[in-house]
Amino acid sequence: MKKVFAEDILRDKVAFVTGGGTGITGGVARAFAEHGAKLAIVSRKEESLIPMKQLVEENGRECLAVTADVRDFVEVENAVQRTVEHYGRIDIVVNGAAGNFLCAAERLSANGFGTVVDIDTKGTFNVCRAAFEELKKSGGQILNISATLHYLATPMQIHVSAAKAGVDAITRNLSAEWGRQGIRVNGIAPGPIEDTEGMKRLLPEGLKEKITRKIPLQRFGRIADIENAALFLASDAASYVNGVTLVVDGGQWLMGTSLA
Ligand code: COA
Repeated sequence: MKKVFAEDILRDKVAFVTGGGTGITGGVARAFAEHGAKLAIVSRKEESLIPMKQLVEENGRECLAVTADVRDFVEVENAVQRTVEHYGRIDIVVNGAAGNFLCAAERLSANGFGTVVDIDTKGTFNVCRAAFEELKKSGGQILNISATLHYLATPMQIHVSAAKAGVDAITRNLSAEWGRQGIRVNGIAPGPIEDTEGMKRLLPEGLKEKITRKIPLQRFGRIADIENAALFLASDAASYVNGVTLVVDGGQWLMGTSLA
């Protein structure tokens, strides 16, 4: 996809990106680096971070790889501290670390439900909370990666729907509380994005064509579509945008979840 933003819109901004090694949030991290940002990418597993670190560095940008489980506040605090020791500041936080699997509600264990809520919702709060002082100093911003699953009802996804509804509540609350401290807080809700591991794993065989026919724009999203939305929200072009979760789904959720 052709680049639509000037290459230096995030020059010297330090971006702390959880889940920034792979998938949609990996794309966002890479795009931020391509537009001038210095990265700290965070994941539970180092092997999820190394290929992205190498790619970013090969392209002449800086990338710190930090392992931390977003469910553990002390680990998150340490990751923030390492980033500040390395770069001296944090300007942008992206909460992309997430857990996902398909499971009917009657088969889902309490621990399965809680695990996803812990990663997505509590993890998002933990990272925002741990980065608050740095964001306040830099007049920074937060970008929460959400979903559209909870706008209607999405069978097999009760855990993720509940978790992302919580993420949206965090986006709205913090935008109100921390806007006054000069911190913008927004979100992005991607629809079905075709070039991700998650979609390969979660999309039942043969459903892609049926779903495509129901998307008003008649195609699945691409990681680049989310990158561009994130670049806009992170840039000065969005300096008066606060408390919004931008839906990037080709109009899909408006059509409902039924495939009829
Ligand atoms: N179906 C039903 N329950 C599941 C499940 C599945 N596919 N995967 C995990 N669970 C349940 C487990 O059974 C466990 O509950 P239990 O103790 O009652 O049995 C609970 O969730 C925790 O699972 P566990 O694998 O021990 O947790 P974890 O912290 O190591 O990992 C996930 C949690 C969600 C990250 C893990 O399931 C996973 O790796 N998912 C795929 C990767 C992913 O989600 N990537 C993000 C793409 S958007």
